[in-house]
Amino acid sequence: MMIDQPFTVRSLTLRNRIVMPPMCMFSSDATGEVRDFHRLHYGARAMGGTGLVIEEATAVTPEGRISDRDLGIWDDAQIPGLAELVRLIHGGGAAAGIQLAHAGRKSGSATGPLLGPSAVAFDEKSRIPIEMDPTDIDRVTAAFRDGAIRALAAGFDLVEVHAAHGYLLHEFLSLVSNHRTDGYGGSTEHRARLLLEVLDAIRSVWPEDKPIQVRLSASDYLEGGLDIEETIRIVRLIRDKADLFHISSGGVAPAPIRAYPGYQTGFAAAVRTACGVPTIAVGLITSLEQAEETLSAGRADLVALGRELLRDPYWPVRQKLRYPDLAIPVPESYGRGFHIG
Ligand SMILES: Cc1cc2nc3c(=O)[nH]c(=O)nc-3n(C[C@H](O)[C@H](O)[C@H](O)COP(=O)(O)O)c2cc1C
Repeated sequence: MMIDQPFTVRSLTLRNRIVMPPMCMFSSDATGEVRDFHRLHYGARAMGGTGLVIEEATAVTPEGRISDRDLGIWDDAQIPGLAELVRLIHGGGAAAGIQLAHAGRKSGSATGPLLGPSAVAFDEKSRIPIEMDPTDIDRVTAAFRDGAIRALAAGFDLVEVHAAHGYLLHEFLSLVSNHRTDGYGGSTEHRARLLLEVLDAIRSVWPEDKPIQVRLSASDYLEGGLDIEETIRIVRLIRDKADLFHISSGGVAPAPIRAYPGYQTGFAAAVRTACGVPTIAVGLITSLEQAEETLSAGRADLVALGRELLRDPYWPVRQKLRYPDLAIPVPESYGRGFHIG
């Protein structure tokens, strides 16, 4: 099997190929600080055998929150709670990642202006964002950099830049939401510029030995929006600036999405083959056999299970009940529950 094999990127070695993708838990408050819920939630997934636990979308600015209950990383006061999460995740034997995010025009926060690449709303029920000027752009880039500085202080092993699901960086990438005529709009290169600048800013403060990962939506499922061909062009532009590519889809505007088991793994495979970069496949992967097939067929280097890990934090170790030879460590104290020890 491949799923229980270690994976190394820069100097980070994951104990297996199972990833918990970032999932907003909307369980903080106006402070954006970590609460007991987060401690229990992330600690349990690490103890359950996951290789890499990526903490949910964490806002780099107050107005960049999806909701006012998001976790935040815009203030030093938020560092101790995040450091505690890292300690608990490490205590469970997993590596700790954090997703740095700005919600852009999809922010539901009551704080600050609604920012976007262009004054175009997500849908007819949404507010119209303010078209970001060069100062706003520089401020957001600096906020991602400062978020990375705080993530480093908290001890995270990896940062994931959220450029998917219709949030700010994706909004710049897609023609659906980016109608600019300056150096941040128009061609693929111009639309990818903010993401490139954010990655450069993060790399300037993030140590050489730690990986940076990018999450992308490989398709907008909309006429004129991103598709896999343009996503491949974007990955080619940024592949020297990121180590891992977490391939999702959708979110920039309402669109018909036909979701079926493994519906996004084809995108991860296309990016991996065309760009020669490691990928994470995600999206309705729920069984060991399906995850193993995704890895062994060379579609991705890692597999992420979102809702399945919400249902069962012990999904990785539980697989030992059917495949006792899997090299997924069961916590010693739980051995009797697994007929070992
Ligand atoms: C409750 C919930 C919250 C989510 N929050 C985020 C998030 O913060 N950042 C992100 O990139 N994706 C987020 N997602 C998407 C998941 O990371 C994942 O891509 C999606 O659920 C598909 O994988 P699955 O079928 O294994 O659940 C969220 C999904 C769920 C169910």
